[in-house]
Amino acid sequence: MGSLIKTVSLWKSYRGGGTEAYALRDVNINIERGDYLAIVGPSGAGKTTLLNILGGLDIATKGRVFFEGKDISGWREEKISLWRNRSIGFVFQFYHLIEELTVLENIMLPSLLCKDTKTSFKETRKLLKYLSVDDKSHYFPSQLSGGEKQKVAIARALVNEPAIVFCDEPTGNLDGVSSEKVITLLEALNTDKGKTIVIVTHNIELAQRASRVVNIKNGRIDKV
Ligand SMILES: Nc1ncnc2c1ncn2[C@@H]1O[C@H](COP(=O)(O)OP(=O)(O)OP(=O)(O)O)[C@@H](O)[C@H]1O
Ligand SMILES: [Mg+2]
Repeated sequence: MGSLIKTVSLWKSYRGGGTEAYALRDVNINIERGDYLAIVGPSGAGKTTLLNILGGLDIATKGRVFFEGKDISGWREEKISLWRNRSIGFVFQFYHLIEELTVLENIMLPSLLCKDTKTSFKETRKLLKYLSVDDKSHYFPSQLSGGEKQKVAIARALVNEPAIVFCDEPTGNLDGVSSEKVITLLEALNTDKGKTIVIVTHNIELAQRASRVVNIKNGRIDKV
């Protein structure tokens, strides 16, 4: 298995009130194709910051990020956006669905930027079925349960067949039953479909079920 994403001495700092606060300190991480990695650590440790930098939503203050061996650290915003849309899927704690769009439209939206409408529609239909939400395709997000919303968010993250899916607290807002469904789904994506998955979580059970756990404390990786 080759390296999919690798960082070399990543630092992230924020300036405010004349001081510099570090959210990440010398982070070296290697994510291999097919990995199912959990990132854990206390609140404020830098987990979201790291995920956002790995997925091109944020940029590091210092250090490098390699995707399939290519150094993406210096890429222009336009190039990063294109790459992110094609290669990265994101799932968030609060779903981030567009309230004015239906389930089908929410899922389909990212694919319209890189595929023709017919292909996008076909892919979206397939995902709706795979995630058993095809009976809700014309619902709006406000008409769905939390678990269903997260399934839709997962479908949206998958629609462009990304190389890797980043999930930030995907079960953070769900009850036990819905959490279990989302966890099972993510596991199946990894084991059956070979998707590379990185999850930030406070959920011990979810972390323990990943094939690898990285612990982050005060911006630094603690090998476990
Ligand atoms: N835009 C920002 N401006 C200033 N400081 C920030 C900003 N974003 C994050 N930070 C700081 O960076 C540190 C890491 O934040 P981050 O959101 O990565 O933590 P986290 O591990 O995801 O925490 P949680 O488990 O609560 O989500 C925190 O101290 C936070 O205050
Ligand atoms: Mg966070």
